[in-house]
Amino acid sequence: AQRTLVLVKPDGVRRGLAGEVLRRIEAKGYTLAAVELRHADEALLVEHYAEHAGKPFVGPLIAMMSSGPVLAIVAEGQRVVEGFRSLAGATDPTLAAPGTIRGDLARDWGRPVIENLVHGSDSPTSAEREIALWFPAL
Ligand code: GTP
Ligand code: MG
Repeated sequence: AQRTLVLVKPDGVRRGLAGEVLRRIEAKGYTLAAVELRHADEALLVEHYAEHAGKPFVGPLIAMMSSGPVLAIVAEGQRVVEGFRSLAGATDPTLAAPGTIRGDLARDWGRPVIENLVHGSDSPTSAEREIALWFPAL
């Protein structure tokens, strides 16, 4: 089956929304293949965000992502990559549609990085690359 990497970012864990994200993934019908709370180090995050290297927000993004623990999740199912992107909603939480994770639960706090609670892989290829990084044993 197809797999995707979901991260509940530190803002989500801090706000007590990790369970809510898991609940929405399960309620949609996807299977959990791995779930682990961990504090990501900078080397892992630089690799994870390699596609954004050089962009102005990548420094603050990595600082935010290492500011506390992340809940790393591998979810499985037909078309789960696009399915989770749809559950998550648009990157900018102010514009994300109500009914989505970001649309219902996130907002703009005026901080330097867009705090939008979750990460979801953007393609099956990215998903396999990211799963290998976060869960080398899977
Ligand atoms: P992810 O699932 O987190 O990858 O979200 P995405 O695919 O919708 O966004 P993208 O991969 O383009 O960016 C990764 C993360 O960087 C976003 O989730 C935001 O937290 C942050 N980010 C993206 N674009 C901007 C930006 O223009 N400014 C700032 N400050 N942060 C950004
Ligand atoms: Mg992305």
